[in-house]
Amino acid sequence: MSRVYQPSDHVVENSRVPSFEKYKEMHEKSLEDPETFWSDIVKEFYWQKRPQTGNFLRYNFDISKGSIFVKCMEGAETNISFNLLDRNVRNGNGDKIAYYWEGNHPDDYSRVTYKKLMDRVCQFANALRESGVGKGDRIAVYMPMILETVVCMLACARIGAIHSVVFAGFSSDSLAERIAACKAKMVVTADGAWRGEKLLILKNICSEAIEKSKRQHNHLVSMCIVVSHLDRVTPCGELPDDYNDMFHWNPIRDVWWHDLVEGQSTICSPEWMDAEDPLFMLYTSGSTGKPKGVLHTTAGYLLYATATFRYVFDYRGNDVFWCTADVGWITGHTYVVYGPLANGATSVIFEGTPFYPENDRYWSLVDKYNVNQFYTAPTAIRSLTKCGDHYVKMNDLKSLRVLGSVGEPINPEAWLWYYHLIGSGRCSIVDTFWQTETGGHVLTSLPGATPMKPGAAGFPFFGVEPRILNEDGEVIEGPGEGYLVFSRPWPGIMRTLYGDHERFETVYFSKFPGYYCTGDGAKRDEDGFLWVTGRIDDMLNVSGHLMSTAEVEGVLAKDPRVTEAAVVSKPHPIKGESLYCFIILNEGAKFDDELIDCLKKLVRKSIGAFATPDVIQYAPGLPKTRSGKIMRRILRKVALGDEAVGDLSTLADPTVIPELFKYRP
Ligand code: WT7
Repeated sequence: MSRVYQPSDHVVENSRVPSFEKYKEMHEKSLEDPETFWSDIVKEFYWQKRPQTGNFLRYNFDISKGSIFVKCMEGAETNISFNLLDRNVRNGNGDKIAYYWEGNHPDDYSRVTYKKLMDRVCQFANALRESGVGKGDRIAVYMPMILETVVCMLACARIGAIHSVVFAGFSSDSLAERIAACKAKMVVTADGAWRGEKLLILKNICSEAIEKSKRQHNHLVSMCIVVSHLDRVTPCGELPDDYNDMFHWNPIRDVWWHDLVEGQSTICSPEWMDAEDPLFMLYTSGSTGKPKGVLHTTAGYLLYATATFRYVFDYRGNDVFWCTADVGWITGHTYVVYGPLANGATSVIFEGTPFYPENDRYWSLVDKYNVNQFYTAPTAIRSLTKCGDHYVKMNDLKSLRVLGSVGEPINPEAWLWYYHLIGSGRCSIVDTFWQTETGGHVLTSLPGATPMKPGAAGFPFFGVEPRILNEDGEVIEGPGEGYLVFSRPWPGIMRTLYGDHERFETVYFSKFPGYYCTGDGAKRDEDGFLWVTGRIDDMLNVSGHLMSTAEVEGVLAKDPRVTEAAVVSKPHPIKGESLYCFIILNEGAKFDDELIDCLKKLVRKSIGAFATPDVIQYAPGLPKTRSGKIMRRILRKVALGDEAVGDLSTLADPTVIPELFKYRP
């Protein structure tokens, strides 16, 4: 039995939802009458054409009854950039700080007010329009954590273009694939950025990707807009004198951001969007290895981002919020950009890493900006735990009230460290379970309302109806473990996979008709807490980055010496999970350090550094069923060195097992 932690008075006082009873009452209301429940927030927004009553949420979640769809307030018209900027300025918050920007180097920082942000968004939106971008066009964004990234996203939203942000840690191959898959008209990037003492020349990765998208995918990008960032920041390591000449500059295609916006008006009329028009797409890994372009639309996403940000972080008027996630992931979209701005909040946007120049950078920034809500990932917490407590104790951290966790289940040790050392036992921890697909938090605790158990994600957010199913698709009531699914949509759920509605239906709705299937397992304990137990498909979560085993296997098999590869996850003390790869070689090929090194580099180059395998092991054969399916369960045991491999009756050739153990490095 794990201990239950109650929210402290410090958190409950003035909380938006101050008791568990209140939470339950609101949750029930949100399911009984969604339209009334959400109407208060809906009324806060500016509508060019108001939503009609009786049209709040229409959907079909049952594939046996026809095509899957979700429509929220369809027919109403609004614009997200207008709601995030103009509306806040009109409400008298023009001079309020929208973002404190903190650079990789501690000497580099700035701030931007709502009014100034609005002006910059309008200028860039005008520049995009003038360059021929319009409603429905896709714009790929490959950027560091700088204000222009937010400006670019909101400028797209203003003119109805669909942004597709690609995390700037992805390789040029991955970027090329994503640029081509959504047929991006333009790419927006920066010359480069420092990550700690490392210099990333983003522009060159981008140029390579644009070339590859042309050569390998037959897709032509007409323009690449480049922010000149390196010149204005303090160098954090060796900077070649001639770094400007290093850029692969194509004068026909490439243009500097500052040249493009020069002289642009700060007035830009928004494109009025239907509530169900696309807002953005974001690629996430799929179990086949081909990334899925998750598509989110306008009004439902805005509503859900607004509500989850407000309630889950219990944001109050003058709080300072900080989400450390990169904008390249959904967490950055919803809780660095859309959620905070929709609430007129002040937040911190940080370009650097937790370890530069010292291991106390996060904590020193909490003090510098008096952060009230701090939202990060378990992998970051674990690595900071390892740095030693004195880095924390050098700082005060008294401003904190809510601590958030996201990306993977948080292990109780990390939870307790976060709770006691960072939160001094006074802060609530919100362990937020959600996905790129869900748009915002779906299972979480609420700071002032719900009790907490270390490692439990807690309870459904408003409008969310989770179910746990057994293998036969039967609902498990009360305590039990099984597949985590949702029996109805909430406003912020994805609408489709860009250009592939069929895959959308197959991946999420075919396994259990009538339910959205998360791909995660979950259990409900005696007290009704929900615990997410991890992926049940062939997906891995390394440092909060989701990837598929098939994706990595596909890359490894590209090496001419490799016949077949099988990748499994192995628990890792900091990263949560790590990649453990089994390699079968072609005749005559030699398994040595050179090959291992080469394969690791291949994965880095093809996917990104975060996907680098921890272990590459020689395998004389793979454990397969008679029908040829790899039994990963056994490979996971080999990776662990655990000889209790369990039932082998379905295995075609059991003699391979001792061999696999023999070759463990
Ligand atoms: C997968 C989604 C949502 C933003 C970050 C990742 C895992 C996420 C938790 C949590 C347990 C979690 C799940 C999920 N996950 N948050 N609080 N507890 N597991 O977005 O890349 O779409 O990954 O991350 O396995 O399915 P994503």
